[in-house]
Amino acid sequence: MQRPSVVILAAGKGKRMYSTLPKVLHPIAGEPMLAHVIRTARALNPERLVVVYGHGGDQVRARITDSDILWVEQTEQLGTGHALKMALPALPDEGTTLVLYGDVPLTRPETLHDLLSAAGDSMAVLTDIVANPAGYGRIVRDQDGSPVAIVEDKDCNPAQREINEINTGILALPNRCLAGWLGRLGNQNAQGEYYLTDVLGMAHGDGLKVGSAVVPHSYEAAGVNNKVQLAELERIYQGNRALALMQAGVTLLDPARIDIRGELQHGMDVTIDVNCVFEGQVTLGDNVRIGSHCVLKNVTVAAGTQIAPFSVLEDAVVGADCKIGPYARLRPGAELADQVHIGNFVEVKKSHIGLGSKVNHLTYIGDASIGSKVNVGAGCVTVNYNGVDKFRTVVEDNVFVGSGTLMVAPVTLEQGATVGAGSVITKTAPAGELTVARARQVTIPGWQRPKKKS
Ligand code: UD1
Ligand code: CA
Repeated sequence: MQRPSVVILAAGKGKRMYSTLPKVLHPIAGEPMLAHVIRTARALNPERLVVVYGHGGDQVRARITDSDILWVEQTEQLGTGHALKMALPALPDEGTTLVLYGDVPLTRPETLHDLLSAAGDSMAVLTDIVANPAGYGRIVRDQDGSPVAIVEDKDCNPAQREINEINTGILALPNRCLAGWLGRLGNQNAQGEYYLTDVLGMAHGDGLKVGSAVVPHSYEAAGVNNKVQLAELERIYQGNRALALMQAGVTLLDPARIDIRGELQHGMDVTIDVNCVFEGQVTLGDNVRIGSHCVLKNVTVAAGTQIAPFSVLEDAVVGADCKIGPYARLRPGAELADQVHIGNFVEVKKSHIGLGSKVNHLTYIGDASIGSKVNVGAGCVTVNYNGVDKFRTVVEDNVFVGSGTLMVAPVTLEQGATVGAGSVITKTAPAGELTVARARQVTIPGWQRPKKKS
């Protein structure tokens, strides 16, 4: 198939979103609707990719930075026909142009392929059969079933109003006819707009064969005008993602309670409990189990690791057969080797933790390098920050850090060192020795607690 050009109409204001954010930047799965439409367009390997913008143009262009997009400004929204006319100078003279919408985010590339096939070197319209066609342009067909016109809802006569096949707005159009057709558009209609839909009647009048394709799912043609519709499409999108995961072998305890905002790669026998959120690039190895209410963003988790509920992991790498959480927090730069245990209320940032080491309770590990087979007791802190600079803590293999220890960086705990509970370690703890750095316990004999005067 020839490479089509794609024009995405995205100039509308989106009044009913009640937001300062331009409508097409409102997110589905954490990504602007317009970015979804652009991804779909790219799947068609377009010859040119044009976006017609208007309201909030600066915001849109700041957010969508693809360098090959041809941006066309429509300063006044005089109708869909006028919008495409603005894009005309950016289009080639030959070939086909596909018209998409920045607020219709869930169209599948396969459906657009079907539409392009139906168009051939003429035009085609993507339609939907709906129970309630109110508000949409109706597809009028002749006795042979060929589309001959699209009539906007506000311009319908009573018979046309009964038609339940509607215009999705998505069209495939022959470039060679565009200048002529768009030049002939008028705005003598109920809304005083230049309707792009009028080109269908012109094509028919010019004796061109007009093709059509029906969307397999209504959501593919669904547009977003308010937050209710945005939420509806979000659920449909997430439902489709969940379905695809299950079809690929992932166990989801409830497919209605998972959110994926990015790419989720997985091995075999992965299990995900309810209410987890995956963002960015997440990779889960074989037999990984994710407990309920976890958030994973840009994380790699190797095979056999279990993440218990309410854990939050971001920009982290987790080895195989680890146990994380519940209530663990791995912040950017956390790198765990295999068989590491990170327990409840433990925070790890910009630190490497070696094979089989355990940090199980109420501890902060930041800017540290922890060796293998290290045990960090409850309530320990790497004191890494003096208010200006950050310093590193090095804990070598087989170190045992007693509970309540502060490691004041820069500092090293050498191989096999033991640190007594409650220590404030400011100097090297030598290898193989017990180091205790705390005030000695004293008892004052006969000391009297002050008494209240009655
Ligand atoms: C349009 C179709 C209608 C179809 C419906 C499907 C026309 C005349 N009508 O109606 O047949 O059933 O979509 O939802 O095309 N836009 C611009 N610039 C403009 C006007 C619109 O960029 O000057 C963009 C809007 O941002 C929006 C899209 O085009 O994304 C559709 O515009 P809208 O005015 O909402 O058309 P509808 O009345 O919904
Ligand atoms: Ca609309």
